Amino acid sequence: MRAHTKTAATAAALLASAALAGGCGSQGLKVAKSSPYHRGAVLFRDHCSGCHTLSVVGAQGSATSIKNRVRTAGPNFNIRKENVEQVLYAIRNGGFSGAIMPENVVLGDDARAVAAFLATYSGRQAQHVTSVPITLPTK
Ligand code: HEC
Repeated sequence: MRAHTKTAATAAALLASAALAGGCGSQGLKVAKSSPYHRGAVLFRDHCSGCHTLSVVGAQGSATSIKNRVRTAGPNFNIRKENVEQVLYAIRNGGFSGAIMPENVVLGDDARAVAAFLATYSGRQAQHVTSVPITLPTK
């Protein structure tokens, strides 16, 4: 196969598997329509999933390894826990640094809905390691 034919075939295969993974037009959204967080989940999927990962909405925008990391790849919210204030701060200021993430992607009620949703669903796959107390010798 010539290089460009191969690329086209690969792209077609990727698209097909993406369509399968998407299922029922829900695009991987696992928050029930009746949930108070549904609106925030949809907004997050539409506005934030390009750069952040969060499996409950099927978002995979974060880097998965150092090799595919791009500058716009933001934190993975499966692992990183955020509270409402942190999310609102990040939305208003463009992340914590203000350097990469665009500011005010969502506003007002929408921003609050995203913040409430993300505060509830972030950090669910964070590792909980039991801490081992150690006693240090003191002089
Ligand atoms: C163009 C890519 C991009 C988009 C779109 C984007 N972000 Fe980000 N975001 C980033 C990057 C990169 C960082 C990390 C750098 C920083 O904090 O300045 C970040 C950081 C954050 C942080 C701080 C996380 C932490 O613990 O450090 C939060 C919270 C956040 N984003 C939420 C959101 C929400 C909510 C949306 C949608 C409204 C969104 N982001 C859209 C790229 C993006």
